[in-house]
Amino acid sequence: MNFASDTTAPMHPAVLAALTAANEASAPSYGADDWTDKVRALLSDIFETPLAVTWVNSGTASNALALSLICPPTGATICHENAHINRDERGAPAFFSGGGILRALDGAHDKLTRQGVEKELAAQDRDFVHETPADALSLSQLNEAGVTYSLDEVSALCALAHAHGLKTHMDGARLGNALAFLGCTPAQVTWQAGIDILSLGLTKTGAGGAEAIILFGDEAARLNDLEARRKRAGHMPPKQRFVSAQALALLETGLWLDLARHANAMAQELASVFTTCGGTLDHPVEGNEVFVRLQKPQYETLRAGGAQFYIWPDGSARFVTNWATPPDEIKAVRSLLS
Ligand SMILES: Cc1ncc(COP(=O)(O)O)c(C=O)c1O
Repeated sequence: MNFASDTTAPMHPAVLAALTAANEASAPSYGADDWTDKVRALLSDIFETPLAVTWVNSGTASNALALSLICPPTGATICHENAHINRDERGAPAFFSGGGILRALDGAHDKLTRQGVEKELAAQDRDFVHETPADALSLSQLNEAGVTYSLDEVSALCALAHAHGLKTHMDGARLGNALAFLGCTPAQVTWQAGIDILSLGLTKTGAGGAEAIILFGDEAARLNDLEARRKRAGHMPPKQRFVSAQALALLETGLWLDLARHANAMAQELASVFTTCGGTLDHPVEGNEVFVRLQKPQYETLRAGGAQFYIWPDGSARFVTNWATPPDEIKAVRSLLS
């Protein structure tokens, strides 16, 4: 019963099979291989637009490199105060951009609000040298509270950002889970809603380590700049084909969305077990994460029964389901709490 994180899950067997198949012979290095070409074309089909893409191994590298393209050393990125880039990345966005800071705003359920961003942007004076203006806005989809932004919310935030000359980034470490909940297309919730750069995570979905940085529209022309940054950062795997092969295995057949749907369904089941047993949820369950408040003895019973989860800084307990979570584990939680 490992609900500590979706990164505790094994690789999906299709990913392992793809790695084995890619291991048959030698192939060109640094992304000049067939798998990388194929996945680039596939992503363009999936997102229904021409795009540029590169790959890294962690979500932190993906976010920080993406932001380094749109937030200069003298600028700022607007994000939620609980955003992974703000709370969990040890300053990587500032490090990779050479000094660009994060401007963290509040908002219920870890979501940026139109009003909050509007107020922040209205208060800034780009021509005043003694203040650090925002050049970018970043939102997470699924976000850190396991909640989604609706299409209208993404569009409104992006329109506001663009109207003030900012570029937009989406931390899509769990984009598959958000898509499974929203029921919209990858295109609708990203570039069609105004996202310029997407960090698309596949590691939490079922890969061993495959995170894409996708540049939409005019940003696609900046691929060489991004590649130079990726190289300098030490995030250019020589055997790139093994990263691309993992991504292909998940994307080619729509498997990533099937796996995300399963993880989301398990989270819904878990949430319903908790509420039936007297727990209260801190956030709506819109993906594969459940934040719940139970009685202290209930936590102890769960731990004694073998359940792993984190107590969050705000005092709630975070349970994360994944592609491999068996329905039996949810039943086991039910019987422990009953
Ligand atoms: C919202 C979000 N973004 C990005 C990441 C990626 O982090 P990592 O560098 O551990 O792959 C995570 C991991 O938990 C996350 O929750």
